[in-house]
Amino acid sequence: MPSFGQVDQRLESKLKDLYKLHKERSAKIDWSYHEFLPLVRKARLPDIPNDPQQAWDRRDVFESNVLALDPTFQRKLTPEIYLAVETAILTEVNLPWFTTELHNTFKGSLQVLVDFVRTWTSEEDQHGVLLDTYLLLTDNGDAWQRHKNRKLVTEGGFETGLQTPLETMVYTSIQERATMVFYLNVAQACESMDAGLARVLRRLARDETLHYTFYRDVTKAHLEMNPNLVEMVTEVMLKFEMPGVGMPDYAHRMDIISKHAHYGPAEFYTQVIDELMKYWDIRNLQPTYPKAREAQLKALQHHERLGRIAQRQMRERQKLTAPSLEEVMDESNWHVSNEGKNGQARRLTVDSNGHVAEAR
Ligand SMILES: [Fe+2]
Ligand SMILES: [Fe+2]
Repeated sequence: MPSFGQVDQRLESKLKDLYKLHKERSAKIDWSYHEFLPLVRKARLPDIPNDPQQAWDRRDVFESNVLALDPTFQRKLTPEIYLAVETAILTEVNLPWFTTELHNTFKGSLQVLVDFVRTWTSEEDQHGVLLDTYLLLTDNGDAWQRHKNRKLVTEGGFETGLQTPLETMVYTSIQERATMVFYLNVAQACESMDAGLARVLRRLARDETLHYTFYRDVTKAHLEMNPNLVEMVTEVMLKFEMPGVGMPDYAHRMDIISKHAHYGPAEFYTQVIDELMKYWDIRNLQPTYPKAREAQLKALQHHERLGRIAQRQMRERQKLTAPSLEEVMDESNWHVSNEGKNGQARRLTVDSNGHVAEAR
């Protein structure tokens, strides 16, 4: 349905506003991966002169000569948590292929979307690097095997097969949200064994939240303009598979992660699909095409069935809920410290009434 997946040119200024908002938010929480590594200072930071050019040179000296690996920071993760983090790396390394696909489907639509893909790529670029370097410096897992897996996955390439910008944006809304929930849930699972890794995962989840928000809101704007697009949304949602589906032992990895790292089918439905169904207000859309009305019904039935499955699974576990965008933007929730290892994010919990509180 190519005509159903094209960007509505009337939304150009709305999309520009969303991109501007994204840039503002991401600039406020900008970070570099070295801040999250177990490094210590070897010497005091020299005084930085007022001249901006000189200041940069001095900072450069600081980064290369004054930081060193903290010798006390040797953490051992359980094999299950290690597997979860390696799986995240093998998902993030699909970035070149993801960028290719997004760029290919966006070009020829609106320049603002091409601009967004470039910004998005620059932000995603350090996710896999941070996770991999963290595992390397904390001596977790087999670096050589990880290299082989990374190479295998990257060489295998990745394509969703989706052809149009809107289809790709629905897919990416789901994928970004799923990745965000995955990071937050694994962070909770590893907090007691490695608070530094939990902090890393929460930081990545922050970026994924902003990405998710952009794609989700572009899709929402299109659904408001044309509710018949529910047909396209349903089709993408029902066929959704994560980009890592082709990695070695994917099913085994998912099984272990579901049992030991708080992320499985139940979380996918309750924290990803349910959230999107509500945000896009699929239930109350008023499509006029019979095929679109059929698709809407199909989406609602699918959602209810998945909800029942999730409910059964969730009864056995403590339910986690991801923070809202406002909570993500609130610096005090994340406490990003320039000191590196000493900064620890607060844990947020949500009670059965949906109230967010700080975990004790
Ligand atoms: Fe990412
Ligand atoms: Fe992302």
